[in-house]
Amino acid sequence: MQVLVAGETFHVEVRGAGPPLVLLHGFPLDHTMWEAQLEFFSVGWRVIAPDLRGFGASVVTPGRVTMEQMADDCRGLLDALEIAGPVALCGLSMGGYVAWQFARKYPDRLRRLVQCDTRAIADSSEAAANRRKLAEHVLAAGTEALAVAMLPKLFAPGTTQRRPEVISAVRAMIAVAPPAGAAAAQYGMAERPDVTAWLPSVRVPTLLIVGAHDAISPPDEMRAISQAIPGASLRVIENAGHMAPMENPADVNRAIAKFLAV
Ligand code: MLT
Repeated sequence: MQVLVAGETFHVEVRGAGPPLVLLHGFPLDHTMWEAQLEFFSVGWRVIAPDLRGFGASVVTPGRVTMEQMADDCRGLLDALEIAGPVALCGLSMGGYVAWQFARKYPDRLRRLVQCDTRAIADSSEAAANRRKLAEHVLAAGTEALAVAMLPKLFAPGTTQRRPEVISAVRAMIAVAPPAGAAAAQYGMAERPDVTAWLPSVRVPTLLIVGAHDAISPPDEMRAISQAIPGASLRVIENAGHMAPMENPADVNRAIAKFLAV
């Protein structure tokens, strides 16, 4: 469905009925990366998977879009959907950067946090410079450069054989990502804050999920995040890399369901 937030249009997939579970996609993807979770959790949950600003069928804002702006958008979406109570929030990678900002700014709107394959640290100055260079390239030549840069790093070695359809789906999402939206998110991610020092103040039950072969946000880095958040737990998913919810949805869904059921 299309939802208006402060006069801007967002696309959000809403399925099922029950307590709200919000899913925030990674870069440069859209809500369809959560298909397996939309299907699984729509029995018992109202699953809400928006296209973040700049992606899918949502508004594109050229320039720079910060993770905080995207968190504000999510808060606005919840208001537009008349969800006033706290939600369970699950982000993947860039969606996780957004979820940190949501948790920091809107703690009263958060009940549970699931962070998949994401990072707490900021970009190094070299990583930020590379991102900006790639953003310029995307603006000039389209998102193919992102596919070339990212696809080799996103999956576990066995995913190509086991789940070739996952790789095609991600490739297709990257191909249709709006270049101006992807570039704006790159500029925003390049200046995202390091939230490491803030992690001990997370007050909601938190689950960290990471693919055993994640090369972008590796298990050791996510273990350190889980150790910094009071009471948090970590689940390492076999047969998965950075795109764990797509590569091994059965194990990811089981882990999230168990966490949400407590
Ligand atoms: C993602 O999957 O969202 C990206 O790997 C995030 C990033 O580029 O830092």
